[in-house]
Amino acid sequence: MKMMKYLANLIAGVCLIFNLILVSSQPLFVDCGSKGGKDEYGRTWVEDAKYLTSSKNSEQAGAQHHNPLLPSTLPYMNARIFKSQATYKFPKKAKERYFLRFHFYPSTFGNYDVSKSYFAVAAGEIPLMNNFSAAITCRALTQAYLVREYSLAPSDCDSLEITFTPSTNYSDTFAFVNGIELVVMPNLLGTAPMVGYRSWSVLDVATENLQTMYRVNVGGQFIPPNKDAGGLSRTWYIDDTYLNGAVQGLSIQSDKTIKIDYGNMSTATAPEDVYSTARVMGKFGKVNLQTNLTWVFRVDPNITYLVRLHFCELQFDKLNNRMFNIYLNNHSAIADPYPADILAWTNQKDVATYKDFALDLNDESGHEQIRVDLNPSAIHNPRYYNVLLNGLEIFKVSEGRSLASPNPELSDMMIQEDQVAMNKPKTFSKSSDNIVVVGATGGAAAAFVVVALLAFFYTKKRKVHRVGPHTSSWLPVYGNSNVGGSRSNSAHLSALAQGLSRHFSIAEIKQATNNFDESNVIGVGGFGKVYKGVINGGTKVAIKRSNPSSEQGINEFQTEIEMLSKLRHKHLVSLIGFCEDGGEMCLVYDYMALGTFREHIYNNKKSNLSWKKRLEICIGAARGLHYLHTGAQYTIIHRDVKTTNILLDEKWVAKVSDFGLSKTGPDMNQGHVSTVVKGSFGYLDPEYFRRQQLTEKSDVYSFGVVLFEALCARPALNPSLPKEQVSLADWALSCHKKGTLDDIIDPHLKDKIDPECLKKFAGTAVKCLSDQGIDRPHMGDVLWNLEFALQLQETADSSGSSGDQGSVRSRDASVRNPRESGNLSVGSEHELNESKDDSVIFSQLVNPTGR
Ligand SMILES: *[C@@H]1O[C@H](CO)[C@@H](O)[C@H](O)[C@H]1NC(C)=O
Ligand SMILES: *[C@@H]1O[C@H](CO)[C@@H](O)[C@H](O)[C@H]1NC(C)=O
Ligand SMILES: *[C@@H]1O[C@H](CO)[C@@H](O)[C@H](O)[C@H]1NC(C)=O
Ligand SMILES: *[C@@H]1O[C@H](CO)[C@@H](O)[C@H](O)[C@H]1NC(C)=O
Ligand SMILES: *[C@@H]1O[C@H](CO)[C@@H](O)[C@H](O)[C@H]1NC(C)=O
Ligand SMILES: *[C@@H]1O[C@H](CO)[C@@H](O)[C@H](O)[C@H]1NC(C)=O
Repeated sequence: MKMMKYLANLIAGVCLIFNLILVSSQPLFVDCGSKGGKDEYGRTWVEDAKYLTSSKNSEQAGAQHHNPLLPSTLPYMNARIFKSQATYKFPKKAKERYFLRFHFYPSTFGNYDVSKSYFAVAAGEIPLMNNFSAAITCRALTQAYLVREYSLAPSDCDSLEITFTPSTNYSDTFAFVNGIELVVMPNLLGTAPMVGYRSWSVLDVATENLQTMYRVNVGGQFIPPNKDAGGLSRTWYIDDTYLNGAVQGLSIQSDKTIKIDYGNMSTATAPEDVYSTARVMGKFGKVNLQTNLTWVFRVDPNITYLVRLHFCELQFDKLNNRMFNIYLNNHSAIADPYPADILAWTNQKDVATYKDFALDLNDESGHEQIRVDLNPSAIHNPRYYNVLLNGLEIFKVSEGRSLASPNPELSDMMIQEDQVAMNKPKTFSKSSDNIVVVGATGGAAAAFVVVALLAFFYTKKRKVHRVGPHTSSWLPVYGNSNVGGSRSNSAHLSALAQGLSRHFSIAEIKQATNNFDESNVIGVGGFGKVYKGVINGGTKVAIKRSNPSSEQGINEFQTEIEMLSKLRHKHLVSLIGFCEDGGEMCLVYDYMALGTFREHIYNNKKSNLSWKKRLEICIGAARGLHYLHTGAQYTIIHRDVKTTNILLDEKWVAKVSDFGLSKTGPDMNQGHVSTVVKGSFGYLDPEYFRRQQLTEKSDVYSFGVVLFEALCARPALNPSLPKEQVSLADWALSCHKKGTLDDIIDPHLKDKIDPECLKKFAGTAVKCLSDQGIDRPHMGDVLWNLEFALQLQETADSSGSSGDQGSVRSRDASVRNPRESGNLSVGSEHELNESKDDSVIFSQLVNPTGR
């Protein structure tokens, strides 16, 4: 059974002596169907023809359509097409483990519509894919392209045969591939204890074939292949999307000057960036004790997984400071009575390590997720009640079985909707190429994910609707906005299905808005008017209608769709659907019940927002912007950050909106985006004027203005004031310098802001307004500082009040301070020590001077 050491099903028999020249350990990047060249990451790809065992049964073809979301032209824009079974034979070293990666870009290549392509792929005898449809898989993931990664166990062969077999179940089908990578993988695998067995047993992973399911830099940033450790070209995604539940903890980062010590571990295990960032729980131990920090990953059922957790203690240098329990699918991996203490493994702070676990889903009938729970352990009376995780990888373990998984299933509703979309008159279509529609890359969604479980829809053929003569293709959006906020747990699937972007007819839109009745207008943007509307007999929506005569409007419309389709985050506004019909283009969003941030601070003041609420809204917006800057494949610059583009839902959750001016960038080569000046006066980066350059620091500047608006309750520009006061940015900076900031604070907030909190907040805002972009903090630092400011405020608030039992709140940064002056008896020693010590640690980590 599983407890036994499985011997891998090695590539048997077919191992021919093929190549006697010395095979180098250099990575091999094969550009299938083309001549090769350098990709955007600077990696060199080579022509594939010489690796084909026969020149007969394949063709090469170029993609008809360039999806702007591709990270690189190479290897995606060309494909090798196989009408019948064909084999690549690559030289490799015997006895070495290899990463094998496939790149798929579902498009139309020559006359081949990839939506008709179903095929099997095997590496030697190991089945990797079966009846595989790259189009369906990408669609379900809303990815423009797909990378599948496998790790092949060492074998005696000095060649690797990769066989593509078009599915026999379809008459007119074919196989295709855009790129193949073969990278020697150092010896990073050993044995992993099986979790959930009463008797201790281990799985020997070193002899197994694996498929990568997830690879996450917990609490950190997206790491592209060229920044990976050891030249292994792995991609590390952010963890936000997988966090589950109300408690999201804090992301922390070690001081840049600290070098991570890898001890006796290979430096290729994971990049330093993985170990120098982490997610921890909030400051308040008593609350932490009652909660879990939880990540949920969807996987295929009935197979074993290797879960690797990366750790590096960044805050404490002594044993018994942070002890915690680790559970996988509710089984103890490391837990009481022997909880994890990272220092016990590494002896020192800033030393990297990892722990492997094997989790067998065969025993958990039908389980289709891996849930990682961390919670503090109290039994050894540690100094703090907290947890920490730096990185996580999940691999499917073959154990002699096929690694293939089925394609996503189609839901009736989705198919119907799709057909409706196909039969509609194509008002804006200038071209009628048939092409597979690819959604877009969800920056956070790991491209490896097996999506068999997601119920998404798909049709074999779709039209590309072109918008205007100058713009690239029109990308319908099948992603949905809920994903970022509501996590990938199974309970969410139905919501996901319901929330899918849909096509609206113009009749529906007119009905929803009472024929665009002026009384329903709730805003006007560069793009056109925004109407309030009601669909499905009750759901409130906001509908943006493009000004049909404006080419600019069309461009912004498209940018907005492209942005929102690739971005999903709790703090970004969500798109429900769109309409392009009867000469109209409309975008349909979630209705933000509480309107704009601005109207709650000064314009037609609807409410007297408390300081804490304002802080929380600023934090939410900062989180959304931080995600834009770092969470996606590209840096995305919003370009129009202002208080009217921060919307509030009915629960006061801040959502950044209006992506019409957004740009992806900075350009890989230039480090900036150069454009005509746009955006809003009063918020514009001075550097932008001087150099016509736009970086993500331009958003940081605008956000600094937003922070002062929140504090001072006045517009960014007020021409009716004396000259030196017209610009809020200038005025606030000068007051801060003179030490008179108190005088310009919103009178409603007088004496309600904790002085320490104010200092932190104002200091952060001032930093954001630095004249030079380079002096401004990154959005991540801003977020940090604001979270810290909020904690200072909460600490101050709760030390004044009594009776607060420290209920858990659902705000991201964590939890309310349970400490209260009158109640020292209930384990509060911890909290008392904790607040003090933590402040020191936090202020060191936070690095308010920016980088
Ligand atoms: C697909 O083809 C395989 C092999 O030709 C066959 O065994 C299988 O029954 C077919 N499946 C369907 C659904 O037609
Ligand atoms: C690394 O060192 C630790 C003790 O210092 C030891 O337990 C562990 O087995 C070593 N690991 C390897 C891969 O050598
Ligand atoms: C924390 O996780 C463990 C293991 O999955 C679970 O048994 C427990 O109920 C969780 N606690 C909370 C508060 O979610
Ligand atoms: C997790 O385990 C605990 C105790 O072992 C049990 O009470 C609880 O019901 C389990 N939760 C789930 C979701 O299986
Ligand atoms: C997984 O195993 C369970 C229980 O043995 C079974 O009911 C289910 O059909 C299996 N699922 C798949 C996809 O094989
Ligand atoms: C192949 O995949 C398609 C799409 O998911 C599915 O409809 C079909 O049943 C599958 N065929 C086989 C033989 O598994």
